[in-house]
Amino acid sequence: MAAQLKAEFISSVADYRKCPNHSNSEFAFIGRSNVGKSSLINMLADSKGLAKTSSTPGKTQTINHFIFEESWYLVDLPGYGYAKSSKSEREKWDKMVKGYLQNREQLTCVFVLVDSRLEPQKSDLEFINSLGESGIPLAIVFTKCDKLTKNQLQSNLSNYKNKLLGWWDELPPTFITSAESKAGKDEMLEFIHKFSK
Ligand code: GTP
Ligand code: MG
Repeated sequence: MAAQLKAEFISSVADYRKCPNHSNSEFAFIGRSNVGKSSLINMLADSKGLAKTSSTPGKTQTINHFIFEESWYLVDLPGYGYAKSSKSEREKWDKMVKGYLQNREQLTCVFVLVDSRLEPQKSDLEFINSLGESGIPLAIVFTKCDKLTKNQLQSNLSNYKNKLLGWWDELPPTFITSAESKAGKDEMLEFIHKFSK
C-alpha cells in the first residue's frame, strides 16, 4: 500500500462563491446522507479525523475543502435524500450544492456515492442522470462493500449497471469501496492522479 498522503482541512463554507481561490483540480463527494462520503475521504487520507463522520445522517452541512499533496482537492458535500429535512433545508441544499456543481470551474469529477447494499434508489438515479444531462463528469462509487458477500456484491453491481444502461449508452467509471477494509483506495487514487492538475 502506498505511503500516507499529506492531507489538510482548508475551509468549510455555505456559499460556493466563498470556496478557496486556486487553480488546481477538485473532486467532489456527493450522495445520500450517511452513504459514507466523509468516511471515504478519511480512508483515502489514511486519517480517521480529517472529515467529520457520524452514524446519524445529516452530519456534513457545508462545502468542505481538503487539500492533498499540496495540490489537488477533495470536496466533502452535504448529503441529499435525508427524509427528515424540511422544505427550507432542501432549498438551502439545492442552492449550495447545485451552485457549487454548476459553477465551480475547478471541478474535475463528481464522485457519486451509492450504498452497494441497496437496490438502485430513485434519488441516486435522478441525481446521476441530472449530472449526465448537465455534462458534469462523474464516476459512481459503491460504498460499504465490506457489508456484503462477494456474490451479493456482484449481483447488486450488475443489477445497478443494467439499470443505468436504460439511460446511458456508455457507463461512467465505477469504483467498489469500503472505508473499513480500504477496498478501492488504490483505484480511486490512481484515477485522481490521472485527472488532477
Ligand atoms: P452525511 O455527512 O450525513 O451526508 O453522511 P456521509 O455520507 O458523510 O457518511 P459518513 O461518512 O458520516 O458515514 C455514515 C456512517 O456509515 C458512519 O457510521 C460510518 O462509520 C459508516 N460507514 C461509512 N463508510 C463505511 C464503510 O465502508 N463500511 C462500513 N461498514 N461502514 C461505513
Ligand atoms: Mg459527511
